[in-house]
Order: sequence, then structure tokens, then C-alpha cells
Amino acid sequence: MTREEAVAILTEKHQMHVMEGFDALTKQQQEGLLKQVEALDWDVIALAGQTEPVAKGAITPLESLTLEEIASRYEEYHKEGLRAIQDHKIGAVLLAGGMGTRLGSDRPKGELNVGLTKDRYIFQCLIENLMEVTKEAACFIPLYIMTSEKNDADTRAFFADHNYFGYPAEYVKFFVQDMAAAVDYEGKLLMEDHGRLATSPNGNGGWFSSLARAGLLEDVHARGVEWLNIFAVDNVLQKICDPTFLGATILHGGDCGSKVVSKANPQEKVGVMCREDGKPSIVEYYELSDEMANERDAKGNLVYGSGVILNYLFRVERLEAIMNEKMPTHVVEKKINYMTADGRYVKPEEPNGYKFESLAVDMIRLMEHCVPFEVVREKEFAPIKNLHGVDSLDSARELLQQNGVEL
Ligand code: UTP
Repeated sequence: MTREEAVAILTEKHQMHVMEGFDALTKQQQEGLLKQVEALDWDVIALAGQTEPVAKGAITPLESLTLEEIASRYEEYHKEGLRAIQDHKIGAVLLAGGMGTRLGSDRPKGELNVGLTKDRYIFQCLIENLMEVTKEAACFIPLYIMTSEKNDADTRAFFADHNYFGYPAEYVKFFVQDMAAAVDYEGKLLMEDHGRLATSPNGNGGWFSSLARAGLLEDVHARGVEWLNIFAVDNVLQKICDPTFLGATILHGGDCGSKVVSKANPQEKVGVMCREDGKPSIVEYYELSDEMANERDAKGNLVYGSGVILNYLFRVERLEAIMNEKMPTHVVEKKINYMTADGRYVKPEEPNGYKFESLAVDMIRLMEHCVPFEVVREKEFAPIKNLHGVDSLDSARELLQQNGVEL
């Protein structure tokens, strides 16, 4: 994009502050800024302030495989899943592109040390969880790690410095997700430096297209991987590529599987599995009416009671088929570091604008058949979103210790 083209579009969109000081920039900075402006998605930026949830279709229940049902077919599921791993059909994808702003650290979230008497980093916990499975299967599983521009170099260096926590490096591949611009509460693009728009990771929804763009789909095919198990960086208790979960999803003919926990109470703030216009989907707690949140079935269980924990299995073939479908954009209020017009750098204490994200949960809606698979919350769900309080480092430490992990 030329300078004139940038001026034209920025004038039309009332964003000319972006060009202030343009002449004082180096040629390289000027080119960088013009590239950033060219890449802006104005339809997305126009959504600033629209924090209302994306409209949903008709919501009806979707039954989960319950703990009892899983226990009754455990051997069968487990054997099938183990076989899929040994046939090299399974890959794992760690979503680690987030900023972890609630933790308040500038480092990648996976570097957080949950140890008390010894070092035990989040990344280490996850690799050890994965290695429980690879030991049983007696073969390794390719692990694809999504980072962002902001934490890619640090994440790679951390893994290398710790010798991949014992996992073979040739089974670990990194890829970088896309970034999106951010705006203040008036919808004005924020700058993070002279000649640089403030950008942040564009949500975890673009993980598959980013993986493909990085050329890793070829790696997936070359290895014969047919299923990808995606998981969040911050749940230190989760099982990764759990053979029973894999086997159940495969045997029930799903093109996707979702680990779920029984909701602690009807008001718990968690997304739950449902059908939306007949398709598998996830409805957020704030999208459920009181009546739906409290509805119970004949056995007394909550009808919308299967909370998702960001651990999904997807069939690669299906992912490729839906890869170019448009995903909804979520507008979220966040703390965004920026530079003021007079060149001061600000690290806000409170949210100061909007980021634009697409979410992996919205991919479920694009699947034909999802198998929700119940797991025991106290054994598999210890997310670290904050340092203290609910879903925190403190609560995760307690849960790890309850599960016999030495900290
Ligand atoms: P969260 O919704 O907890 O976001 O991400 P976050 O950025 O890590 O943390 P906060 O909200 O700023 O405190 C859930 C999972 O999705 C990944 C995160 O790394 C985490 O594993 N994620 C999130 C991405 O990979 N990319 C993103 O753009 C956002």
C-alpha cells in the first residue's frame, strides 16, 4: 500500500492520527506501518463497542457421554484410542498464543512456576501429562505449539533451555498465530510505538488456519495424523490425547469430541454443550436464560450442565473442509498497552479498549457430530487464569497436590 492509499483510507475511517509523525520514521518503519494499515480488516474494526454476544440460533440439549457410560465401556474406548495413537493418527495442539493478561506477567503463561519446593513450570506439567500417554502407547505424539508474535521467541527459547522437558524435539513444532489491531473506547486505533499499531493475538479460533499457513498441515499429512487434540495452556491437570476420550469419539463416529465437566451449580460461569439449530455448539453462561440454566432432566441432572474445558478433538479432514468458513468476531474489553500522542508508553491497570478475537469454541458449530465426554472435574480441571482466587495459581496448586503431584 502506498502512503497516498493509506492516507485515503485512514481519512475515510477517521483514523488519521495513525499517520502522525510519519515523515520522521525510517523507511523501514514507514513500510512496516503501511503494511499494517493494508492488513486492517475495517469490517472488524467497525465492531468496536459491540460487546453484545454474537446472536445464536435455536438452542436445544446435546447429551454427553456420562462418567457411568464411559466406565461401562472403558476397555473398549481405551483400546481404540491407544491403537489410534500407535497408528500415528493423533496429533496434539497446544494453544499458547494468549497474552495471559490476568496473570499480569509479560512472559509466556507456560513459564509460570507452579512449584513450591522445586521448579515445576506450566509447560513442564503439560509435557509430563502428555508423556503419561506416550509412555503407555510406547510411541511419541507430534505436538504443535501455537504462539503469537509477542511470545514466540521466548516460548521457543524456554523449551530449548529446558530440553523440551524430556520430549523429543523432532516431535515439537511451533507456529505463530495472527494478530489483530486494537482500539480505544472511541474506536480509535491504538499505537504501541512510533509507526506501529498496537496489535494483539486475534483469539484462539484461527489455530487451524495459522497451522496451515505455517506449512504444518504438510507435516500433519506426512505423519498420517487424522485427529488433532487441541488444549489450553493453563489447565495443568488436563489429560492430553487421553486414549479413552480419543477412542470414544472415534467409536461414536464424531468428527469432533469435547471434554466436559459437570457444572458445579446452575449459575457457574462456564460455556456448556448444546445443539444450535440442530448442530453441536456451545452456549455461554450469559446466553442461557434462567429457566434453561436451571432445567433438569428425569434423572435430576442439569439439561445444560456439561461445561467445556477447552480440550477438543477434531478430525483433520473436517477441519480442512471448514477452514475457509467465516468465524464470528468477539469484541472483548481488555487492558491494552499503548503509546500516547506525545510519545508516553502506558500500561493500563484497567481495561482501556477493545480487542477482536475469534474463538475455537465457534468451530464446534461447524462440525456435524460432536461427542461430549464427561471427566471428573477435580481430576482434570485446574485452570490458571489469575494468581489468586477462583481458577488461580493457588487453586491449581491445591488441586495438583490433591492429585498426588509433588510441588
Ligand atoms: P484465555 O481466554 O484464557 O486468554 O485463553 P489468555 O490470553 O490466555 O488470558 P487473558 O484473558 O489475557 O488473561 C484460553 C487459551 O487460548 C489460548 C491461551 O493461550 C489459552 O491457552 N489463546 C488465547 C491463544 O492461543 N491465542 C489467543 O489469541 C488467545
